[in-house]
Amino acid sequence: MKIIEVKDYKEMSQKAAEYIIEKVCHNPKIKLGLATGGTPIGTYQNLIADHKQNGTSYANVMTFNLDEYIGLSGENKNSYRYFMDEQLFNHIDINKKNTFVPQGVAEDIQAECERYENLLEEYGGIDLQVLGIGGNGHIGFNEPGTSFQSQTHVVNLATSTINANARFFNQIEEVPVQAVTMGISTIMKSKEILLLASGESKNNAMVQLLNGEITESFPASVLKKHPCVTIIADRAAVAGLKIQC
Ligand code: PGA
Repeated sequence: MKIIEVKDYKEMSQKAAEYIIEKVCHNPKIKLGLATGGTPIGTYQNLIADHKQNGTSYANVMTFNLDEYIGLSGENKNSYRYFMDEQLFNHIDINKKNTFVPQGVAEDIQAECERYENLLEEYGGIDLQVLGIGGNGHIGFNEPGTSFQSQTHVVNLATSTINANARFFNQIEEVPVQAVTMGISTIMKSKEILLLASGESKNNAMVQLLNGEITESFPASVLKKHPCVTIIADRAAVAGLKIQC
């Protein structure tokens, strides 16, 4: 794993955007795996600014999001489809038909998991997957204990995840308790992974990721087995860790 330490959230967001833009310019048909949450918002803002200023085009880019809450339709402001439209897709020249997010309100949710996994397969998989990390080490919504063999599946969200995400909702009772997420093996099939981490609240997770063992009880640890992972983390996230750049 290659680690790039930066000063703060702003610099992480700039560096991450530069990283993605370079890949998009190199391969205008790139298939990006995208994440939601607080971490990538600044990155997406930088992608939008660059698109407006420099004209980087996403006309031929395809995107696949990691996860979606069960029970929330794309019109719901707290759904991840809505988040992606608002935070990125509505502001760049991407064809919305080429943006995929699992359906949180599918009639048959198991069938939806299979459909999403097959979709990824059909399109030849993800070239660059952007990931955040949960305080408990989750990637996507793969909570501690998830099998490293897992494919797209339904998860019960950990209490710590529900608490962490409550900040986006009016009240904690509104946070869905289940989600559809790409599995760990789905994520590991990406050709390349870019993990972003910012702030003190991610410090324990980063310590465990970099110093701990590979174990299903800490999902992100699986990334040590991936041949091409870059981490962009700010000082607060990696405080106390020895980073060799
Ligand atoms: P956050 O979430 O970006 O809102 O901190 C990260 C994650 O849960 O993967």
